[in-house]
Amino acid sequence: MKVAVIGTGTLGPAIAQVFAECGRIETVYLCRGRDLATGNGKDKIERAYDKLIRSGKLSREQADAYLDKIVTGPKENAARAELLVEAVSENLEIKRKVFRELDAICGERCLFTTNTSSLPINEIGDGLSRPLIGMHFFNPAPVMKLVEVVATEDTPREMIDTVMQVAADLGKSPIEIKEAPGFVVNRVLIPMINEAISIYAEGVASIDDIDTAMRLGANQPMGPLALGDLIGLDVVLSILNVMLKDTGDPKYVPQPMLKKMVREKKLGRKTGEGFYKY
Ligand code: CAA
Repeated sequence: MKVAVIGTGTLGPAIAQVFAECGRIETVYLCRGRDLATGNGKDKIERAYDKLIRSGKLSREQADAYLDKIVTGPKENAARAELLVEAVSENLEIKRKVFRELDAICGERCLFTTNTSSLPINEIGDGLSRPLIGMHFFNPAPVMKLVEVVATEDTPREMIDTVMQVAADLGKSPIEIKEAPGFVVNRVLIPMINEAISIYAEGVASIDDIDTAMRLGANQPMGPLALGDLIGLDVVLSILNVMLKDTGDPKYVPQPMLKKMVREKKLGRKTGEGFYKY
């Protein structure tokens, strides 16, 4: 099977890596979402593999075999794919524009999936000549086992089954869910991060102590503030705004401190500073 992953930001290259490591996949086209995007995304995968090679978890030969399957380039490469995963910026207008362009160049049998973390699938796919389904990976994609397969009322059963099977073939544990704001994981996780920020803003405890509390008191692998930095605080804010807009529920109102950090470009790991410095 030939797959195209669109987007060379945080998740695109990691998703391409997951596909390249699957025996059933012959080629992964890793395509730039925007023509002006810097880098082709493959360097991020090479760095991840270098780390695994240094720690003895992967051989150079195996890494090269995976990398050989990944072809980088513009969106037009996606014309040869049978399955497409869109992972461009979490912005409705950008996603819609990218899908309209892809709809015109991809074969009619190519399945379209989006890795959106919260945007309504119906609205992203509106006006396309084919159905769209959510295929939501988690950060860091090579490690996290879950894929949320998000179906709308109109998604054909066959398409849901195919995408569930592909996710299983990738070694993931997919779950099928009905489209709803935040799907499942983000609806639970993102308000928790927002709440942790309010605890810090109120001066109840330090950043380290809040994270330690949730690691040792709730057995989470990392604390909520470190997790916010990993996801990207701009993404956390945008998911809260989508859930607030869709539901009107005040429990999703973003904390002022979160908005301030995003304004100051303290977005977490990707900008070198969030709640922690990197
Ligand atoms: N490819 C393959 N394997 C990789 C890898 C890569 N790119 N990067 C790391 N790994 C492997 C490591 O080799 C290691 O393997 P072993 O356990 O066999 O040694 C393992 O993954 C863990 O890596 P590290 O030792 O570097 O790191 P860690 O043990 O400190 O764990 C973590 C890091 C996996 C991020 C862990 O802290 C964790 O699970 N955190 C929570 C992450 C989470 O909740 N993610 C969801 C965010 S929400 C989201 O993404 C949705 C959204 O829409 C916003």
